[in-house]
Amino acid sequence: MKVLIAGKGGVGKTTISALTAHLLADKGYNVIALDTDSIPNLALNLGIPYEKAKEIIPLSKNEHLIEERTGAKPGNSWGSLFSLTPKVNDIVEKYGITVKPNLKLVIVGSIDQSNEGCLCPAIALAKAFLKHLLTSSKEVVIVDSEAGAEVFGRGLAQNFDALICVSEPTLKSLTISKKLIEMGRELGIKKLHLAINKVKDQQKALSIKNKVFLETYSIPTNLIIFDENIIKAENEGKGVQSIPDNSPALTDVKNLIQSIIL
Ligand SMILES: Nc1ncnc2c1ncn2[C@@H]1O[C@H](COP(=O)(O)OP(=O)(O)O)[C@@H](O)[C@H]1O
Ligand SMILES: [Mg+2]
Repeated sequence: MKVLIAGKGGVGKTTISALTAHLLADKGYNVIALDTDSIPNLALNLGIPYEKAKEIIPLSKNEHLIEERTGAKPGNSWGSLFSLTPKVNDIVEKYGITVKPNLKLVIVGSIDQSNEGCLCPAIALAKAFLKHLLTSSKEVVIVDSEAGAEVFGRGLAQNFDALICVSEPTLKSLTISKKLIEMGRELGIKKLHLAINKVKDQQKALSIKNKVFLETYSIPTNLIIFDENIIKAENEGKGVQSIPDNSPALTDVKNLIQSIIL
């Protein structure tokens, strides 16, 4: 199963990606979590200590790897000639970070050309890697992405089995989510799911959702409660695996996962 987690900045994508990755790994799935954010921080949420996390070089910034695989030398000589079909089948093994025995993390970095200037070989490598993993890997792949990011482009998006669109219970955030869900639908992603996160008032959250999505629009929806335990874990520099079992948000994410894997 390949799951794309998307939504506006700050809504909780990385938190939910990390929780989903840990919970599915605990269920016995082999999980690969990918961070495609231009400012990657999934490692911390997965519980990798800050000192170690800050040393990790994203694939799209790893000049040595890019040169080795695409033939393009970094710096001024990033030429226009480079391989668009770099070898990528060993990347998880070589660059994956083992979070726990059946949970691996690969920090891909941004795959957005506009974010990265014109580091075309870097983008080519990162995209080739994603495509490879999405089309051939037997593992559960969870991609923590940016809103409106390149991962929604043709060629990648249709390889996902599920899109979890994360939103805050606000009109703006839900409006963006609706657009992302429509893009996902157009691109043929089979399971589309809305996760309204940081909910303090369920009634209000659902009433704003109904305003944005109208009654006729059926979109499976889960609410995830605003939970201080998530903030506490983050501020103590701990990963989501340290959140107590009886935390309300954890129960909500478990329900979300249940509806995705069924
Ligand atoms: N259910 C929740 N309850 C309380 N705080 C949350 C919840 N989900 C996420 N947060 C907090 O919201 C902030 C943004 O979360 P993050 O996962 O980094 O968002 P994104 O990846 O979408 O930018 C973080 O400080 C995180 O601790
Ligand atoms: Mg994030």
